[in-house]
Amino acid sequence: MKGLILSGGKGTRLYPITYTSAKQLVPVANKPILFRVVEAIRDAGIQDIGIVVGDTAAEVKEAVGTGRRWDVKITYIQQDQPLGLAHAVKISQDFLGNDRFVMFLGDNVIEGGISGLIREFAGSDYDCQIVLTPVDNPSRYGVAELDPETHRIIRLVEKPRNPPSNLALVGIYMFDECIWGAVNAIKPSWRGELEITDAIQHLVDQGYKVHPYVHRGWWIDTGEPDKMLEAMTWSWTRSSTASRAT
Ligand code: G1P
Repeated sequence: MKGLILSGGKGTRLYPITYTSAKQLVPVANKPILFRVVEAIRDAGIQDIGIVVGDTAAEVKEAVGTGRRWDVKITYIQQDQPLGLAHAVKISQDFLGNDRFVMFLGDNVIEGGISGLIREFAGSDYDCQIVLTPVDNPSRYGVAELDPETHRIIRLVEKPRNPPSNLALVGIYMFDECIWGAVNAIKPSWRGELEITDAIQHLVDQGYKVHPYVHRGWWIDTGEPDKMLEAMTWSWTRSSTASRAT
């Protein structure tokens, strides 16, 4: 399997913290979120990692380098305009080939890492695995409606005004080569982006196996200021607990 990290956004929701710096490089407990994402992927046994970069490419490349420090190989993929998560996948096709891959948004942190998720996907016949978690404010995210009996996905909708459930799509996705047909079939959304949510809906509509994994631990999308503060609090609490224990 390969890893794909999306690190192209401008981080406008975190201004002024990110005015001069990439949002993925803002430290959470002294360590940039992006480094935590690289480590989570490495810990899941994946060494071949692509990072999609945008306007802040120079800063990201300088901070992350070749990946040697984590014993992984990093390939940078330039996204000239922020045209959406599915667009970022599209421009990564040469790097990914027909391998299965995990895609991780570079500003997301989840409890427990992703090793278990990767193991489940690798040993399955799923074409795609998505990660869902219950949230209080689903309209801010992509949202999934599941069949209450079979737990299969009925539909996925990006930032719905009237959310069909409280299950948000976490920024971690796993795909096989079926994703190529889907990212080429979809059209830009109302916000002018090729949405990964629409590409996954396309897979569901075409009858591919899309498995919804419901994550019960904490999840922090650090792209928002209140979430960023929350992330700093948990990591501080965790590191101070750890240092008290040693
Ligand atoms: C993106 C996805 C959305 C997902 C979210 C998780 O939203 O489009 O479905 O729930 O990441 O962080 P965006 O950050 O583009 O608003």
